Amino acid sequence: MSLTAIPSQVDPGTLAAELGEARARTLLLIAPLSDPDLHAQHDPLMSPILWDLGHIAHFEELWLTRNLDGPIEFVEMPGLYNPFEHSRSARASLALPGLDECRQIMDQIRGRVLARLATIDLDPAHPLLRDGYVYRMVLQHEYQHNETILQTLQLKRGEPYTPTVRYEVPRPDRHRGPAPGAMVRFPGGVLEIGTDDRSEAYDNERSRHPVELPPFWIDINPVTNGEFAEFIAAGGYREPAHWSQSGWEWVSKAGITTPKHWEEVDGAWLSRSMDRTGPVEPLHPVCHVSYYEAEAFARFAGKRLPTEIEWEAAASWDPEPGTKRTFPWGEQPASKDLANIDQLTFGTAPVGSFSRNVSPIGCYGMIGDVWEWTTSPLSPYPGFESFPYPEYSELFFGPEYKILRGGSWATRPGAIRNTFRNWDYPFRRQIFSGFRCARND
Ligand SMILES: [Fe+2]
Repeated sequence: MSLTAIPSQVDPGTLAAELGEARARTLLLIAPLSDPDLHAQHDPLMSPILWDLGHIAHFEELWLTRNLDGPIEFVEMPGLYNPFEHSRSARASLALPGLDECRQIMDQIRGRVLARLATIDLDPAHPLLRDGYVYRMVLQHEYQHNETILQTLQLKRGEPYTPTVRYEVPRPDRHRGPAPGAMVRFPGGVLEIGTDDRSEAYDNERSRHPVELPPFWIDINPVTNGEFAEFIAAGGYREPAHWSQSGWEWVSKAGITTPKHWEEVDGAWLSRSMDRTGPVEPLHPVCHVSYYEAEAFARFAGKRLPTEIEWEAAASWDPEPGTKRTFPWGEQPASKDLANIDQLTFGTAPVGSFSRNVSPIGCYGMIGDVWEWTTSPLSPYPGFESFPYPEYSELFFGPEYKILRGGSWATRPGAIRNTFRNWDYPFRRQIFSGFRCARND
């Protein structure tokens, strides 16, 4: 068995530096925005960005000061920034402090957090402090809200969002690697799903447990825009045979005929990512599709979507020695050099662009670019224990959500790994979501 990745440094100085880096990124993302843009609710699905900022700070205050000093409160912070007290669509009518006041609050809380951290004893017997867990939980929370803010920015009303800093994605002259739609076989057998890590993994990723899988085939790359355009051209959105009943009801009622942010101009497909609109790139993974659209494409292609167990097997399991990897490429921490992650490309890259982003069985791009829909509902693994509070996972267990895996270009490296489970409703497409297909042996 391979070792579970444990962050190499959990000393207070490193944690303080990581907190500083996370905050710098949050502030970089919002730097181009005016006060009205920060106050506005750009879409009913999304919070005003000022709410996200205040919520980030209050979550940090709860877990890194109050819960370290007093009795642990296993709840969200009460008040303005408690997501359970105020639905997203109602957050625009809250009396949110403006940016200057919000920044002061964020700085004050951070000051207390750093003062506390300077004298902390990362006591291995303390459930929150062991291996610095609670700090990594708060870091991941800020990273995840960065991705939420990017969803909001893609939906922004008025002038499109123009980033302050942008990395250009690799643009190979021609597609390297297997053709779109090519598949690889997973040989099946008993393997291990989930993790026992307690230094950064969330409660829903535990425990690491054996699962027996029959052999199956899975796409080497995520489904591309070019493949998806063939589905559209073949009338895929109008053919009920490709759709599940609930999918057909959704697509008919919503009148949807393309992935979100696509439009047809003079017979050609254009798509928009933030402030850039251009021809749909045929070799990029398709993005902003719902589970229902993914499912319909898979049927059209004579395939199906993978379960989350199949996805994790294909991303992490090396069948020959029978070992598990934390990332598709191994144990090296995720970075923008290994995969299209960490936000600053502001878009997808051609499939196969990152030659080291390959799993033991030969699947490319499982981390980064687009979250990948799976058929699995959010449910607990064997031995699940809610930790540190039920509102992270347990409250959401149920068949109404579908699991997504692998992170997107908008995911920060510290908030993704092979065992990470994301979820959303099957009709949602504000997320940076795509998919790859599977089929039976
Ligand atoms: Fe949150």
